[in-house]
Amino acid sequence: MTKVVVLISGRGSNMEALLTAGLPVEFAAVISNKAEAKGLQIARELGIHTAVVEHKGYPSREAYDAKLAEVIDSHGADLVCLAGFMRILSEGFVQRYAGRMINVHPSLLPAFTGLDTHARALAAGVKLHGCTVHFVTPQLDAGPIIVQAAVPVLDGDSADSLGARVLDQEHRIYPLAVRWIAEGRIALTADGRTHLQGGSPQAAALISPQG
Ligand code: GAR
Repeated sequence: MTKVVVLISGRGSNMEALLTAGLPVEFAAVISNKAEAKGLQIARELGIHTAVVEHKGYPSREAYDAKLAEVIDSHGADLVCLAGFMRILSEGFVQRYAGRMINVHPSLLPAFTGLDTHARALAAGVKLHGCTVHFVTPQLDAGPIIVQAAVPVLDGDSADSLGARVLDQEHRIYPLAVRWIAEGRIALTADGRTHLQGGSPQAAALISPQG
């Protein structure tokens, strides 16, 4: 069975969505870079092993990432899931987990990489916004896209109301992506895209506003 390690920094709602989705994987550990991360308590209550690897005291990003990799590897991780793990990762760390580390990001990538994605989507006036699960590559918030969900931007939306609508979809698509990987259905193509084997060719158009 695929052994999964989840990395968090805070609330852990995506982690909880993964842990409670009934996925055909073994969650070996949840690791946080912050001892106060709320998600740690949720993981413990769900009976998952937790660890804290604080970044304070390491002389460099590489030194911290080497320690983090040591802890991840001690759990025999086949797949590393970043779930609100708010750290820039060193190139060596990303290469070490190439093809077996994924992330959820609160925008329809490649739009709105980085932070404050909901406020920036509102400011840009987009009519559709959403979220993305993708393989992690050295470039920030880039890498082969596995699945995306789009939501409408509604009149009167604040960054919070829009973000809540997006987060609901993150909680749907992140478990889907992990399931597909665990089932061996995600193929990486030579040109750096992904293909879902046995996927339905159907997808509905989402038009916003409806008029
Ligand atoms: C989520 O919205 C996730 O997409 C975002 O942080 C939030 C974590 O919430 N991640 C990024 O912005 C990564 N670039 P959570 O701790 O409740 O899952």
